[in-house]
Amino acid sequence: MSIDRRPIGIFDSGIGGLTVVKELVRQLPGEDIVYFGDTARVPYGVKSRDTVVKFSIENTLFLLKNKVKLVIAACNTSSSVALTTLKRNFKVPVIGVIAPGARDAVLSSRSGRIGVIGTSTTISSKAYEKQILKNKGLFKPARGRSIKVFSRSCPLFVPLVEEGWLASKVTDNVIRQYLSSLKNKDIDTLILGCTHYPLLKSGIRKVMGKKVTLVDSAVSTAKAAREFIEARGIANSPGRRAALRFFVSDEAQRFKKVGESFLGRRLSSVVRVKHGI
Ligand code: DGL
Repeated sequence: MSIDRRPIGIFDSGIGGLTVVKELVRQLPGEDIVYFGDTARVPYGVKSRDTVVKFSIENTLFLLKNKVKLVIAACNTSSSVALTTLKRNFKVPVIGVIAPGARDAVLSSRSGRIGVIGTSTTISSKAYEKQILKNKGLFKPARGRSIKVFSRSCPLFVPLVEEGWLASKVTDNVIRQYLSSLKNKDIDTLILGCTHYPLLKSGIRKVMGKKVTLVDSAVSTAKAAREFIEARGIANSPGRRAALRFFVSDEAQRFKKVGESFLGRRLSSVVRVKHGI
């Protein structure tokens, strides 16, 4: 096994991909990370497929300039509509968040009734649905059950999280309203198919009840990245203190403030770069 000191590159439409960074740091503490948040162009979740593909290519090019060994598309919207293009056009391995989340959902479900929530673009792409069905060989069903997927876009969740309204009456009402259609479907597993949704986990759990397993695609993705790195033998040397570098396409200060409170550590390197058109 050889040591590969190059960093892991992660991109997201903004700050939400820090949910993946947090998990990566926990699961792969020796890996350096270069993060790009496209804060000038967020949100991606309401934009067209073409636009998100173009942005995702530009983000990958940026990470490649930083000599990364692996690219993680932490953004669910990008992963839904741009992953095939990225894999086809770049030599660097690219991991998205959809396949790991879908796999964990299939492994966790017993009834086969799986819910997916995400941005409008993610849900209309049906990416999770397709990926869940691809994994149906892993399904260990209760007798007589087959897989059925129920999807719902929750476009107001992202602005609520961006506003920091993680636990408020307004947020609870919005969660209840969006999830009411899924609550009647008797699902046993729900994929949080957007970078921001893990931050609403406690409100979502209140509505869905304790019996529904919430699959956090950030956790699933970090696990997939760890497995990938271990299988290829391209880990950095263990036991070292990793460097985290952050780049954004808009003002750095807000990202730094929110990022520090979210990751619980000082972000010494947040740099605004000129990006895209
Ligand atoms: N990062 C996006 C996602 O996971 C959410 C924010 C956005 O709409 O850009 O789908």
